[in-house]
Amino acid sequence: MKKIIVMGSGYGSNFQAIYEYFKNKPVEILAVISDNPNAFILKRAQNCNIKAILINYKELGKEKYNEELLKTLISFEPFDLIVLAGYLRILPEFIVKRYFKKIVNIHPSLLPAFKGLNAIEKAFKYGVKVTGITIHWVNEEVDAGEIIEQVCIRIEENDTLESLEKKIHEIEHYYYPRVIEKILFEKL
Ligand code: GRF
Repeated sequence: MKKIIVMGSGYGSNFQAIYEYFKNKPVEILAVISDNPNAFILKRAQNCNIKAILINYKELGKEKYNEELLKTLISFEPFDLIVLAGYLRILPEFIVKRYFKKIVNIHPSLLPAFKGLNAIEKAFKYGVKVTGITIHWVNEEVDAGEIIEQVCIRIEENDTLESLEKKIHEIEHYYYPRVIEKILFEKL
């Protein structure tokens, strides 16, 4: 049985896709961790009977939050992978170093283009004809770790920001679980 931890700050649709994909496979989601008390991902985890852990960033402040996060992660060791799915905090060096090549992230653009927040909107407003998603290892820099996989889509003339967002999320939900599976079982 492979063991993963999912971390997210928001809506949690990627978590949901990962959960559904691995439901009947030898992959256990040990916990969902969030920094945000209002994150819907925590509700989703509860609904799926997955341990939902809140470490409240605003209440604790950066240093205490990161210490608490590390303690929590250690308490789940050994595990195979930490999956960031809409996680909006930057992981500190001591966590990234401890779990080198054990933390993956998904970003809704073809990195290195359009790093950071609102990447879909940035790509749309820029007017690129092709965009997509990137799944990458996490290092100390934001959206800059080694690329594992990318999938591209065309932005059509009649696309709106909303239709593009929908397409991006669809390919995220399809590819992220499958790439995670590849990482877990083919030792990428
Ligand atoms: C996704 O678009 C992901 O690429 C980005 O944040 C978004 C999270 O969406 N990192 P959700 O919380 O999984 O619905």
